[in-house]
Amino acid sequence: MQDFKLNRELAQLAVLQRIELSGPILRRIRKTFGRYFFSMIASKYFINPSRISKNYFYLMEKEYSIIKKYIQLNNNILSIGSGIGGLEILINKEFNSHITFIERDYVSKKIRYGWDKTNKEAYNNLKLLEIFLENNGFKKNNFELYDYDKGILPNRKFDLIISLYSLDYHYEFNLYKSYLNKVMKPESVLIFDTVRPDYFSDIFKKVEILKEDNNTVHKSKRIACSN
Ligand SMILES: C[S@@+](CC[C@H](N)C(=O)[O-])C[C@H]1O[C@@H](n2cnc3c(N)ncnc32)[C@H](O)[C@@H]1O
Repeated sequence: MQDFKLNRELAQLAVLQRIELSGPILRRIRKTFGRYFFSMIASKYFINPSRISKNYFYLMEKEYSIIKKYIQLNNNILSIGSGIGGLEILINKEFNSHITFIERDYVSKKIRYGWDKTNKEAYNNLKLLEIFLENNGFKKNNFELYDYDKGILPNRKFDLIISLYSLDYHYEFNLYKSYLNKVMKPESVLIFDTVRPDYFSDIFKKVEILKEDNNTVHKSKRIACSN
């Protein structure tokens, strides 16, 4: 696979989900004209979809290389807050994995990045996510989409759970704590980004640090937890 092709709508979602794809001009527009103008207008019309496609692909390849060692053939994978699903496409391409997604189906009108106590912030569109997966060779019978806000979550055990820059980065881990208890086996691995890795050493027997983000406003670590 050489690249992803994002149309304008998908490129907008990618920019909203990954602010680093937006570039300095768009970030300045956000500062000057505010969050509403950025979320609704600038992130859609002041972008170059083909450049974002390339950069998004590159970013997802990098993420994939960081977590790949935790994936095995026939793993049952859950992705919480996948965004448009580039990482999951790369996983499916190589491992033909079945992946279950829990995401949200709306874009906040004034996106506020960082910690969201009320868990209201979302930037996705499940129809576009589905189209993107299928257009990139992800077979329909190999994935399932769950809308977090509909209140029904998949009820089965997963081998690997991935939540990049979503769980405990944007919203409280506690929101999913009892659910994760239900769907994880002792040997299951949960990978996510957090600003408080030490907190998780008390919850899980094994916590491995995979990546450190020190140059961002929210200094975070990506951890792989099990047991
Ligand atoms: C910063 S984006 C990260 C997207 C993707 N994981 C990535 O690394 O590019 C966070 C994602 O979490 C989703 N989200 C927000 N609240 C959520 C919740 N309670 N459950 C699942 N996903 C959620 C948002 O819609 C958004 O797509």
